[in-house]
Formats: sequence, structure tokens, C-alpha cells
Amino acid sequence: MSTNSIDSLQHEGPRFAPSPEFTANAIASGQLYEQAQADRLGFWATQAKALHWHRDFTQVLDWSDAPFAKWFADGELNVAYNCLDRHVLAGNGERIAIHWEGEPGDSRSISYAELTAEVKQAANLLTKLGVSSGDTVAIYLPNVPEALISMLAVARIGAIHSVVFGGFSAESLRQRIDDAQAKLVITADGGWRKGKVSPLKPAVDGALALNKETPSSVEHVLVVKRGENEVEWVEGRDLWWHEQIATVDSEHEAQGFEAEHPLFILYTSGTTGKPKGILHTSGGYLTQAAFTHRSVFDLHPETDVYWCTADVGWITGHTYAVYGPLANGATSVIYEGTPDAPHAGRWWEIIQKYGVSLFYTAPTAIRTFMKLGRQIPDGFDLSSLRVLGSVGEPINPEAWIWYRDVIGAGTAPVVDTWWQTETGAMMISALPGVTTLKPGSAQVALPGISIEVLDEQGEPVAAGGGGLLVVAEPWPSMLRGIWGDPERFKETYWSKFGTKYFAGDGARLDEDGDIWLLGRVDDVMNVSGHRLSTAEIESALVSHPMVAESAVVGAADEVTGQAVVAFVILRAEHAGTLPDEEASSALRKHVAEQIGAIARPRQIFIVGELPKTRSGKIMRRLLQDVAEGREIGDTTTLADADVMKFITEALPGGAGASA
Ligand code: WTA
Repeated sequence: MSTNSIDSLQHEGPRFAPSPEFTANAIASGQLYEQAQADRLGFWATQAKALHWHRDFTQVLDWSDAPFAKWFADGELNVAYNCLDRHVLAGNGERIAIHWEGEPGDSRSISYAELTAEVKQAANLLTKLGVSSGDTVAIYLPNVPEALISMLAVARIGAIHSVVFGGFSAESLRQRIDDAQAKLVITADGGWRKGKVSPLKPAVDGALALNKETPSSVEHVLVVKRGENEVEWVEGRDLWWHEQIATVDSEHEAQGFEAEHPLFILYTSGTTGKPKGILHTSGGYLTQAAFTHRSVFDLHPETDVYWCTADVGWITGHTYAVYGPLANGATSVIYEGTPDAPHAGRWWEIIQKYGVSLFYTAPTAIRTFMKLGRQIPDGFDLSSLRVLGSVGEPINPEAWIWYRDVIGAGTAPVVDTWWQTETGAMMISALPGVTTLKPGSAQVALPGISIEVLDEQGEPVAAGGGGLLVVAEPWPSMLRGIWGDPERFKETYWSKFGTKYFAGDGARLDEDGDIWLLGRVDDVMNVSGHRLSTAEIESALVSHPMVAESAVVGAADEVTGQAVVAFVILRAEHAGTLPDEEASSALRKHVAEQIGAIARPRQIFIVGELPKTRSGKIMRRLLQDVAEGREIGDTTTLADADVMKFITEALPGGAGASA
């Protein structure tokens, strides 16, 4: 979004104040801001005490070893107990925890009592398979109940999960298994996507067969039977979930673990080719997950039905499909498949079926539905919806208004929530019963969170100014490090502004002090709300024998926010041997195999040269101009000023040509 359009919206755009009825019944009131303002640490201690502690904490924050924070360090808790047993013991065992909806239309409603029993059993199974506290378990599953059950069972015994999104390739999976030294992989024969069962087990087999010289750390592969896919079987290593689970007890007593006990690792793209294993721990993470979930969605657990459409393989799935809602005793919908299977109204049909009242999704989905037209959602009864959330990328005001009008019947508040894998939970968002909403702006820091917008020198920008988004004080659900790489952790997030966390996002403050996110300021792209690294895709491209050099940029895309566009120089012996379209389609496929389908470039341009500065740095800005079909910007710092001319002249039909 251009600065001009932000300016005009800032002054003229519509505003939506909460209705008096909403405010009167709201879970979160404006007093939260005052309490947090008066005593930030006391405020978080109060939120933490809403959980069950096996041993109470006396310390709140220890920041003496910054940037390595400790929250509630002398307390002990069990994350799974907080999400399960606690609710059963409080008399809510009959409440539905999960309405699970399979893509082909099969479904299962699982109560808190049933989910607790299944997790206890799975915890016993993990123990039987030799997994214990501190071990890591890779989870590579579709969005099926066993994904949540596995995560909770791992947490229950103090092991560490590393969920790998099912769309990642065998190579990506192996990289993550090796980095975390996972002992066990939990997968499925497949999962339903777009009307067919897409296989998962073969990717695990492929991953474990890679790098034969260094055998993987994996001892067992536990396989959930979801489809009827044929699977290859390695005797002794591979085990069926349903057979194994039948052999173990459903009694399991949860023990307390220290608040700083690791809970999970989740890999995310950074500015180099190697993904970062973001580490989260137990007490602080669960505190902020639960607090933000109930406050931002105005959760009334007795009556609301909540649906977060994210796959459990992403941080949004971890915090807002699993830990936040379950810690709060909410009833959630979990859906396995894609929004358009078997028909374009599938999501709206699910909302109607379960009476979903709180809904959380990504702008890219909303823009896709906008394009399809309102007649599709208009065909369903969406009157149960009362709060709508957005996450993953900036939501443009047009999409925001459409979301409120068409999905929210012109009354449901839209909360735009800014946060990251690293922050663990929401950091910036409106509170629906308090804030007057401003479409397009994520608005204000949540109570207890300290956000600043700074210039390069670390000075706060004035109202109306743009700069870098920073978290000025430690927060409970903050990342505790990058797995196995403390130096990279310090360098990436803490070398720019000392003990203030550098988020990597640009932001602007308007005259009211509201925050407008402007996208990443580093070489990280955001495609459909998913982070992709330009360096990672470039290294996948150059791993192909045809490729000499590559440069990847994120180009603006109407639906996905950004799209991956690559510029590739072929090795001399390959140049001209294939028509450009064939070469680029082979390379697009190669990237999907190396990283996963989400990273497959929208376009690949085969070029003779890349624009470089005299010091050899690729000028991505110029390539971005080409990719977005714009006039080429300033080329004076190029080593060879004619390069851009050659590139644009060589492109068939200019930049718009698709690969
Ligand atoms: C972007 C997803 C604008 C941002 C929870 C951030 C957003 C990255 C918003 C994190 C938002 C997320 N408005 N941009 N409401 N939410 N982002 O780790 O660039 O997958 O740094 O976490 O997404 O992506 P991640």
C-alpha cells in the first residue's frame, strides 16, 4: 500500500465504535490498559494465575541475561493439564473441545473428557516408544484430531514438538528433523486436500532415506491411518497409530514442569537459506496465548463456537487453534481441507453447520472470496458470527470492509492482529469491546505489550512518521532463542536496538498513534500470510544443475499479497537448449520439490544478467520493478548501467508474461 493511500485513509476512512451491548458484555474492558500501565509485571502475573500451576511462581520476569528472558521461572505447570484435565475437573468434561470436520464431509465432535482421555493414552504411547522429557518429536500430519492429540501428548510428558507443515517437501522435513534431532516422527498415510488424499508418508520415507552416510536421529515413525493410501513399510521402524494406541492405558498423571521448560520448536524462514528453529517455552507462552485469545475474540467459552482456519503446522495454528482456545476451555472447529472443496462455499457451510461465532482467518483468503463474489457467502446463514479476526499480513481497507459487511453482516467487529512466530502470540490488536476500529490499521499494542516505531538511529518517530517496528519490553510468549544457534538469535533480533526486539517489519504511526503495518523490511516475503525467504528459494534454484545464478523477489499480488518471482541465469552449457517456458517450468517444479509447493515461484524469468552494484550486491529493488511491471527506478549505482535494458528487452511481452 502506498504512503499516500494510507494518509488519506487516516484522515477520511470510516470508523466503527463498538456497540453499547457489545461493550456491556465484553470480556476485556479498557481497565486492562490501565492495570497494565500501572504495573506491567503485576498485570502479567495476574494473567498467569488464571492458569493452573503445579507449583506457584514467586518471580515474574528475569531479564538479567537479556536477550534470554525467563518468565515465572520458579513456577511449575503442565501445559496439557491446563488445556484438558483442568476443564474436566471443573465439571466441563461434556463440553465439546473440537468439532472436527474432514474435507469429504466426515466429522467428529470430541468432548473435553474424551480429548483428555485420548491425550493421556497418546502420552503413554510416547513413553512406551522411549520418548521422554526434553526429547524432540516431529509432527507431519494433516489437520486431523491426531495432530492436536500428538502436540498435547508431547507437551504432557515434557517432550518438545516440532510440527512441520504437511506442504513441505521431504528435503525440508529432513532438514528440520536433523536440526532438532527428532527421535520420533508422527505422520499419516495422507490427508484430504482438494478432493483427494494427498500422501504424507512417502515424504517421510524420502526424508529419512536422504543423506544415507549420516543416518537420521529417528527411531520410529508413527503413522495415522486417515486415507486408504498404500504405504511402504519399514519393519521395526514404522508403526500404525491405531494399533499402538490400543495397547496402552488411558490413565496418565500429568506432572509439573518448570515454566521455562521448552514446549515446541517451530521453523520459520529467515534472511538466509537455513530456516530458524524458533523456541517457545511453557508458562509465559500459555499465559499470553490464553489471555490474548479470550480478550481479542471476546471468548465466552460456555456459548461461543470458535474457528481458526490456520493449519496446525503454522504458529497461528499452534497458538490459536490449539493452545489458546484449549487453555480457555473453548469449543473450536478444526477443518481438514481446502476452502473450495468440494464447493466454493465450504467455509460458510461449516460456519452455518456449527454456528461459529468467532472466526479467525487471513487476508489472502478474504481477498479470494471477494473475487468470487458475495453471492457465495450470501447463500449461507452466517448470523452466528460476532467477532472476525485477521492475521498474517496487512489487510487492505477494502478487504476489511468487505469482511465486516458481507461475512459479519455489517455489525461484527474485525480485529486485525499483528504478531509473529517469534512473538508466540498477538502483540498488536484492537479489543473488540473497547477500541473504535479503523480499517487497515492493526491499531494499538495489547495491554502489557510495549510497541515502538523507531527510526534507524533508534529514535521514536513522530506521529505521522514511518519507521521500524520494535517491541520495547520483554513479553511472556516471546521466543527464547533459535534452536542450537544463540548467536543467530542475538544477531537477528537484538543487534539493532539492544534490548529492544527488532521485528523486521516496517510500520507507520498515524496522528492518533495507531499503527499501520507496512510489510517486511528484510529479504523475507509474505505469500498468502506465509513467510518465505528469498535466500532459501535462491539456494533451491542454484541447486539445479541448469542454474548458474538466481535472484528472487516478492512482487505485489492482488490475492496472495506477495508472489514469488525469480530471475535466473542458466549455465552456459544449458543456455538456449530448452525453450524458456520449459526451463522455467522445470525450475518451478524443482523449487516445489526442494522446499514445498508454497515456495513454487509464480514466474521465473530466464535472463542473461542480473543487476548488481559495484560491490556485487544484487539490486532486488530493480527486479521488483520489473516483476511488478513498473518503470525501472534509479539505476545509477549499477556496475553496468545497461543491464536493466537487456533484461527488460529480453522478456517476452515485458514483465507481465507468465511462466
Ligand atoms: C506479517 C504469523 C500486517 C508480518 C502470525 C510479520 C502481519 C509476519 C500481520 C509474521 C498483520 C502478521 N498485519 N502484517 N496483522 N500479522 N504479519 O511468523 O510481516 O508466519 O512479521 O506469523 O507476518 O509471520 P508469521
